[in-house]
Amino acid sequence: MAEELTRIQGTRQEMYNGLLPQIRSLVEGETDLIANLANICAALHDAFGFFWVGFYLVKEDELVLGPFQGPIACTRIRKGKGVCGSSWEQAASLVVPDVDLFPGHIACSSLSRSEIVVPLLNKNKKVWAVLDIDSTELNDFSEIDRVALEELCQWFSERY
Ligand code: SME
Repeated sequence: MAEELTRIQGTRQEMYNGLLPQIRSLVEGETDLIANLANICAALHDAFGFFWVGFYLVKEDELVLGPFQGPIACTRIRKGKGVCGSSWEQAASLVVPDVDLFPGHIACSSLSRSEIVVPLLNKNKKVWAVLDIDSTELNDFSEIDRVALEELCQWFSERY
């Protein structure tokens, strides 16, 4: 396993193109779920400088905070609540250009302005976790992020 990621400059797409294979090789040799989720967060946080990157794990009827990088965050989110709970309920990615315009957005930090949440689905198409990325910039996420992060989450989910 490489202990350091090679930094990639360029467009967001070029950065994903360079980063995703590195994340795959980082994770491939390790079976522990928490270790892998933690390294995925660190890699995305480090490469893009996002404000907050983390996973929430489905535990019974709630999402519970998992590995993350960034400031402390709320620990439990109910199904259908906020962006994360809505992504879980809909089993679909949500790109939110302005969190203030998202009804019920859970503001863990007032610095967060836009976000993307991508669900992780198991073999039975049930959501078992969500990846939440927050930015201090308005409108920081696009289809490029959605497609790249869905590819990453789907690839990762198939291993568990
Ligand atoms: N943004 C989330 C809450 C979690 S924090 O931002 C880390 C939401 O509304 O679902």
